[in-house]
Amino acid sequence: MGERGVAVVLAAGLGTRMRSSLAKVLHPLLGRPMVHFPVQAAQDAGLDVILVVHHQEDAVRAAFAGQPGVAFARQEAPRGTGDAVRSALEQLPAQGVVVVTCGDAPLLRAETLRALLAAHGDALCTVVTAHLPDAGSYGRVVRGPDGHPARIVEAAEATAAERAIGEINTGLYAFDAAFLRALLPGLAPHPPKGELYLTDAVAAAAARGGARAFVHTDVDELMGVNDRLALGAARAVLQARVLAHHALAGVTFESPATTLCEVGVEIAPDAVIEPNVVLRGRTRVGAGARVGAGSVLVDATLAEGAEVLPLSHVEGAEVGPAAHAGPFARLRPGARLERGAKVGNFVEIKATTLGPGAKVPHLSYVGDALVGARANVGAGTITCNYDGFAKHRTEIGAGAFIGSNSALVAPVRVGAGAIVGAGSVITREVPPDAIAVARGEQRVVDGGAARFRARKAPVTGEGR
Ligand code: UD1
Ligand code: CA
Repeated sequence: MGERGVAVVLAAGLGTRMRSSLAKVLHPLLGRPMVHFPVQAAQDAGLDVILVVHHQEDAVRAAFAGQPGVAFARQEAPRGTGDAVRSALEQLPAQGVVVVTCGDAPLLRAETLRALLAAHGDALCTVVTAHLPDAGSYGRVVRGPDGHPARIVEAAEATAAERAIGEINTGLYAFDAAFLRALLPGLAPHPPKGELYLTDAVAAAAARGGARAFVHTDVDELMGVNDRLALGAARAVLQARVLAHHALAGVTFESPATTLCEVGVEIAPDAVIEPNVVLRGRTRVGAGARVGAGSVLVDATLAEGAEVLPLSHVEGAEVGPAAHAGPFARLRPGARLERGAKVGNFVEIKATTLGPGAKVPHLSYVGDALVGARANVGAGTITCNYDGFAKHRTEIGAGAFIGSNSALVAPVRVGAGAIVGAGSVITREVPPDAIAVARGEQRVVDGGAARFRARKAPVTGEGR
């Protein structure tokens, strides 16, 4: 580690202002924990990452399980930002550059890190600063006679004159690795809490003429998330970035302001996303596909030209090329619609493949089934796949026709080209090209209705 430079990402704090049982840096933003974003930015800028953890450290470590280029340092107790970086001391490179940033600053971009590294050159410490109309609780940057930063003073410890300074410490820095390694062991605790301040490094670098400021104009980008209000603001910024990326790659969002699209989602050019759509997880939307208004897609795959009509829910399912689902369709895990297949309204499909051109147009439940090409499954058909103990399979052959309101009691097979009469309860195999009807026979009693009424209301004939 260290050849390319290292980023220490501070993620040990409690985040009390979130008022949450979940550690602040683990709060989800567009399908990833908050701390994912600064880590990703650092990696995109070519830096190896050391995450400083303490609070809920197991969960924080788990969030990066198996991810290369991410190491961890344990801070024994949250004794300040200087102590946090010191806990990574042994893992810091002997030479080169060490960037320090915060796990609760998710909007940091890789471009900004690259610009910081370029500006840092061979300074000892470059602190990223910003000018704020209301500097609030941020540390203030006190500049020396040479115009470079002389020290950082925390708002709580600042004089009135220092508090009036509008240039703040954003909490993002680049350090010369050797300088930082030499400095950390000697940091002195600040009363009353006895915390170690990383900001003391600025004064130490200034004493050797090596402190620089990198003034950043996009203040929002370095915003720290301390409460859920800020979490919402950060989410909005990230969402806008994700949608901009897709839009510039050729995706139409009919209503970007009402679209929720997580970071792991892939969308091909000429796809159209209608209003109020939610795209989560590993969802893939193919070229020219359309996602109807109000639909929710989770780990869904839409092939080229596939269409999900409004108000559908698709999870762990695949809609093939030119296949359609919805409106009001529910595709559950393992549902797979092959080319041109069609699922209509109020239909639930689970662990089932619909062959090319197969149709389930209305009000059906089809689970654990294989439906052959061009088969037509009539309105209200139910595959009775569960006997209270185990799940069983249903097979419907190519070109078969299942009449409306039929129950197919699995395990059962309907052969290719067979016809099942409406209202049947099918419990045995139907051979190919056979007709099966399994329902009570119709009885017609001529004049029976009139006689029935006469018996019930002999004078008025009421009830007609
Ligand atoms: C710090 C800076 C302040 C700067 C501000 C920018 C110091 C002394 N002050 O103040 O000048 O304007 O950030 O946001 O550095 N953390 C740990 N372990 C600890 C303490 C903190 O990992 O023991 C982490 C936190 O989880 C957080 C980050 O460090 O991600 C910043 O800590 P925080 O307590 O918010 O620092 P501030 O008081 O805001
Ligand atoms: Ca803070």
